[in-house]
Parts: sequence; structure tokens; C-alpha cells
Amino acid sequence: MTTPAPEDRKDSMAESAGEQAAAAADAKRGPSVATREKRAGLMNPSGETPYLVVEDLTVKFPTADGVVSAVNGLSYSVPLGRTLSIVGESGSGKSVSSMAVMGLHDRKRTQITGSIRLGGDELIGLSENDLMKVRGDAVAMVFQDPQSSLHPLYTIGNQISEAYRVHHKVSKDVAKKRALEMLDLVGIPNPIRRFGQYPHEFSGGMRQRAMIAMGLVNDPKLIIADEPTTALDVTVQAQILDLLNNLQKEFGSAIVLITHDLGVVAEMADDVLVMYAGRCVEYGTAEDVLANPRMPYTWGLLESIPTVSAASEKLRPIKGLPPSLLNLPSGCSFNPRCPYKDRVKGERCTTDLPDLLPVDGAGAHTSRCHLHDKASIYETEVLPRLS
Ligand SMILES: Nc1ncnc2c1ncn2[C@@H]1O[C@H](COP(=O)(O)OP(=O)(O)OP(=O)(O)O)[C@@H](O)[C@H]1O
Ligand code: SF4
Ligand SMILES: [Mg+2]
Repeated sequence: MTTPAPEDRKDSMAESAGEQAAAAADAKRGPSVATREKRAGLMNPSGETPYLVVEDLTVKFPTADGVVSAVNGLSYSVPLGRTLSIVGESGSGKSVSSMAVMGLHDRKRTQITGSIRLGGDELIGLSENDLMKVRGDAVAMVFQDPQSSLHPLYTIGNQISEAYRVHHKVSKDVAKKRALEMLDLVGIPNPIRRFGQYPHEFSGGMRQRAMIAMGLVNDPKLIIADEPTTALDVTVQAQILDLLNNLQKEFGSAIVLITHDLGVVAEMADDVLVMYAGRCVEYGTAEDVLANPRMPYTWGLLESIPTVSAASEKLRPIKGLPPSLLNLPSGCSFNPRCPYKDRVKGERCTTDLPDLLPVDGAGAHTSRCHLHDKASIYETEVLPRLS
């Protein structure tokens, strides 16, 4: 061990005196906005211990045109047995953030910072081999298009058994038995016959079930479902959602469900995270976010849902397009499209990025907006338009 030189000691004493003074000042002021924001993002809205914790996740793609900031400071958490829905328009960063959790980005072309913890273990920085073990073992991903995950030249049964054998040292017969059980569990009739068939011999709904069977064959604790029902007709969609719900009850998995369909959110989600231009703009329990939304972008999403009762002329799609992620607008990213920005004093909407702060000054429902009277605007102006 070396003893520090007197000057070094002096510097470090001065530094620690400085740190102490700063800490004392912080203690007097209370937690900084950044700390409160971080805490709000991490706290699960349910108050339960989370299994997946995403903290301050940033994903950037350097391209010939500049750096695409696809995900910016995203934090959320999901406990076992709960479903978090991530919603937002196309290009808001839903898939990119979830692919980061799966470690599916090309490392050479992607800059990822922040923390992704699964059952307490950090995933960022793991080697490709270690990540492969996590994928398919603790985590499974179900995509919108099963064709992209199912190999056209191998039978369905073969693909499910092999997915099992990658993570378990078992004979082909044992793996086959397991695959047949999974086909049965996901509601595929006549599993023995279906085991030997190829993906093109399955209908769209059956292929989606087969992909879910393949994803769940290793009892993952976390399922990431990225628009799992978008390509399916309404009846099959409802069946697949029911299946996910039942499997969650049986296995107690945490689910991250990515969708742009707020009807699906209302049906499935315990918690909801609304993303806009790579950032979380509202986060809370489904009850809070759907019944008391506090961000104009969330209001816009709700107003743009087609409902059976609403006359079509009442539908109000959000005007304009999401911004380019190569060049985000200054201030609130939603400001070029926001019908309420003139209600905020001065130029704050175009100069200051709003922090993600608790809606009622406390609690786990957070939103990112400078408006002061969000509750009254929602109740007196937005809600009547929704009914
Ligand atoms: N490899 C990449 N290189 C550059 N930009 C990318 C790359 N992958 C994704 N992006 C950009 O990141 C942004 C977020 O994409 P993402 O796929 O997460 O959107 P999304 O919210 O899932 O949209 P959708 O609802 O259409 O699936 C998009 O603008 C997309 O073009
Ligand atoms: S901060 Fe301003 S621009 Fe952004 S959502 Fe709120 S009112 Fe609209
Ligand atoms: Mg997507």
C-alpha cells in the first residue's frame, strides 16, 4: 500500500470536504430532480419487487447521416407475474429498447449505456456467449411475424425440441416429449401430427402459437412480446392474448407487451409506459394511465382510438409526424404537435425538456409535461371528447 503525498492528501481532503458540503446542501434541498426522476422511473408502480429493472437506458445508432438517438434515458421495472405494456407510435423506440434487453443489437453498430438487470444480474457488458444463455433460458421474445423466428426448412417439432436441447442436456426423445407438451399447452390440436409439419403448413394463428411454444419451452421468467397479435385477425388475436394471460398465470412470468393498440393495453396491462421519440413520457399502473392520463401525447393516443360507439368524425388522429431521431426538437419533443403548448407560460415547451415527475407530487404515476393544470384540462376538455 502506498501513502499519498501530502499534496494529494490535501487535494483529497479538500475534495471530500467539498463533497460533504455538497451532500449537506443536497440534504437541505431534498433530492435533486434527476434523483427523483430516477427513483420514479425505477419504482414499480405496483410497489412489488421487480424482476426486470431497466435504468437510464440509452441506445444510439451512429449512421452516415448522424447519430440516431432511438432510446433516451429509459427506466422501468417489471415484477414477476405482472405485465407492462409499452405503447407509442411507430418509431418511438419500443422495439429498439426491448431488443436491448434481449441483447439483440449489433454491438459494432450500436452504443448502449445504462443498466438492465434481470433478477439482480446486470446484462449490459455480458459477453455474447453469456447473453445467449440468458436468451431463451430466462428471457423469451415473441415477435409480430412468426415467419422471422421459425425456420422454413425445419419442422415445427424439431425447432421446439432443439430450442429445449440448447439449454438442457437431454436426449432427443425427452426433448420431443417436452415439445409435444408445449404444443398441447399452447392449444395446438393434434400435437403428434403437428410436430412433424413445417411452418408453411400452419395458419398465421397456429404459427404464432408455435412460436410462443418455442419461446416458453425453457420456462422463461421474462417474456417480451413485440406486437404479437398485430398481424392476426380479431378472433385469433383475442385467443393469443388469452393464451399469454393463461401462461402467465401458470408460469408466473413477467411480460413486457409492446403494442400500439390501447384496446390490448386495457385488456392485458398491469402497468403502462408511454414512449415518444425515444423517451418515456408517462408511466404508471394501467388504471392510472388509462383513467387519469396526464400528458397531451397520451391524450392524443386515447383520442385516436377507433371505438364502436364513436362516430368516425369524432376520431382525432394526432396531427403531424413524430420528429426525426437524428435531430430532436429542443425542449419537449412533442412540442411541434402539441395543441396545449400555448397554455404554458413563456417558451418553456420549446426550450426546456420536461422532467418525468410524479403526477401528484408523489407516488408512482409519472409524466413529462410543463402544463400546470393537467388534471382540469383532462377532465373538462379531453374526457368529454372521449365519451
Ligand atoms: N439499426 C438501426 N440503425 C439506425 N436506426 C435504427 C436502427 N434500428 C432502429 N432504428 C431507428 O430507431 C427508431 C425506433 O425504432 P423502433 O423499431 O424501436 O420503433 P417502434 O417504436 O418499435 O416502432 P413500430 O411501432 O413501427 O414497430 C426508428 O426511427 C428506427 O428507424
Ligand atoms: S411540455 Fe408543452 S409541448 Fe410538451 S406535452 Fe406538455 S404542454 Fe405539450
Ligand atoms: Mg417495433
